[in-house]
Amino acid sequence: MSTLEIKGLHVEIEGKEILKGVDLTINTNEIHAVMGPNGTGKSTLASAIMGHPKYEITAGTVTLDGEDVLEMEVDERAKAGLFLAMQYPSEISGVTNADFLRSAINAQREEGDEVSLMKFIRELDSKMDTLEMDQDMAQRYLNEGFSGGEKKRNEILQLMMLKPKFAVLDEIDSGLDIDALKVVSNGINEMRGENFGCLIITHYQRLLNYITPDHVHVMMQGRVVKSGGPELAQKLEAQGYDWIKEELGIEDETVGQEA
Ligand SMILES: Nc1ncnc2c1ncn2[C@@H]1O[C@H](COP(=O)(O)OP(=O)(O)O)[C@@H](O)[C@H]1O
Ligand SMILES: [Mg+2]
Repeated sequence: MSTLEIKGLHVEIEGKEILKGVDLTINTNEIHAVMGPNGTGKSTLASAIMGHPKYEITAGTVTLDGEDVLEMEVDERAKAGLFLAMQYPSEISGVTNADFLRSAINAQREEGDEVSLMKFIRELDSKMDTLEMDQDMAQRYLNEGFSGGEKKRNEILQLMMLKPKFAVLDEIDSGLDIDALKVVSNGINEMRGENFGCLIITHYQRLLNYITPDHVHVMMQGRVVKSGGPELAQKLEAQGYDWIKEELGIEDETVGQEA
């Protein structure tokens, strides 16, 4: 079993404190969901874990099986088994999807132990089948001209091919129609198992109708303020976030806009 542990994490963006002490422990074989209103720092948490240079860690720790993740370069984090699907995936012109994936897989392996082309193609075909993606998507430039839904499927394709120990999926459901949502959920569910842990960040509960999380956390004003089981997500869907504010006596400060 592997463990990703976030302790007392404080993060600033351009001098403004966004995360004010986040605690979260995720084991492999577990799916955690982080929910919360817009502007509470969910994407900031994802970016900080993955080492986005804009996010300054001012206190706290992130460790993977005791190893200090914050000390690692971004590529070392990937090599250690962390994967981030971003809310807004970037486009890379001139690099095909298939080439990108194969380089990313090989970057995680030792020199001389590269994946064979045949094996790679076979696996790519099968994962693209699961995700109901057109085969020609493999030869298109990375994310260039992809629709919102295609980008999200492509992120899950990367996840399935790279097989990280831990994935952080930020708003992977945004902009997906119901069919795409099911397909993407199937892909994530297929990953479930002893060697995989997942943090799903979502504003809406609907994704969690297809992927049942083991633990649900509510983030507000830069902290995890409440944790529970899948029923917590259902309650949030039905009743919104106000009852939590009341329960915890949180002042209704204006929540920031979504970045
Ligand atoms: N790159 C940035 N520069 C300045 N402020 C940012 C940046 N990213 C996020 N913020 C601010 O940080 C707060 C939290 O944003 P974010 O983590 O995106 O929230 P969430 O994902 O929960 O909607 C917001 O007030 C947002 O405006
Ligand atoms: Mg966000």
